[in-house]
Amino acid sequence: MAQHLTQADRAKFAAARRAVDCVEDGMKLGLGTGSTAAWMVRCLAERAREENLRLTCVPTSTRTAELARSLGLKVVGLDQAGWLDLTIDGADEFDADLNLIKGGGGALLLEKIVATASDRMIVISDASKEVKTLGGFPLPVEVIPFGWQASKLLIEELLSGLDVMGSTATMRMNGNKPFITDEGNHLLDLSLGRIGNPRQLSLALNQVPGVVENGLFIDICDAVVIGYADGRVEMRDPIAGTVEEERIIFVESDNIFQDI
Ligand code: A5P
Repeated sequence: MAQHLTQADRAKFAAARRAVDCVEDGMKLGLGTGSTAAWMVRCLAERAREENLRLTCVPTSTRTAELARSLGLKVVGLDQAGWLDLTIDGADEFDADLNLIKGGGGALLLEKIVATASDRMIVISDASKEVKTLGGFPLPVEVIPFGWQASKLLIEELLSGLDVMGSTATMRMNGNKPFITDEGNHLLDLSLGRIGNPRQLSLALNQVPGVVENGLFIDICDAVVIGYADGRVEMRDPIAGTVEEERIIFVESDNIFQDI
């Protein structure tokens, strides 16, 4: 039930519920990954059921695909869907220009492909993810397993010449084994503290042999919905030049909270 949700979950739910209002019948949608995106999938499935919406969904991870399917949403791959109308996803950090760090959940590669294959990307978040300068959250970089230690050395060398505060790359672990992404790769988490020039860093990282993609999303996100635990939501859309505030009502009997 909603009253048993944590403050963080209430904020994530509020953002997710507002973002799902941007969905229209017939849309092809990209579904993000993570705890905030999971709320969005639940809200989307509920709206689709109540309003009989015909939606085609492209998930960004096996986790999201399983959740979406279990809730009755139509799930296809990106090649089957073609171009998407809208992607809704969470983020680990966002700045005033709506540049993002993503990949805390390990799905950055598909998330970036899906978001850039969409007319519009909306990020859903609680207020804690907003930062003045990106880099407090460790930046995930996906590398292929072959020669990953060489890639790591090259990345650390590269970082020492760029406008960042740290230069340590750490292999993400899953217990005592390296974390494996859905695409069979590893993740290096870069402790940077502060990223002075995110665009330059993103371009430079993707030049390193073995790097598949990095978690900086530059000029990809179009709008952000920030949720608060009391139901307030703020939607910032710099392209439209609008900032809208609303309040989401938590309906305690709502089906969406029954299995949480
Ligand atoms: C998944 O790989 C990430 O990009 C997530 O979108 C990001 O980590 C946000 O996750 P939460 O919504 O769980 O904070």
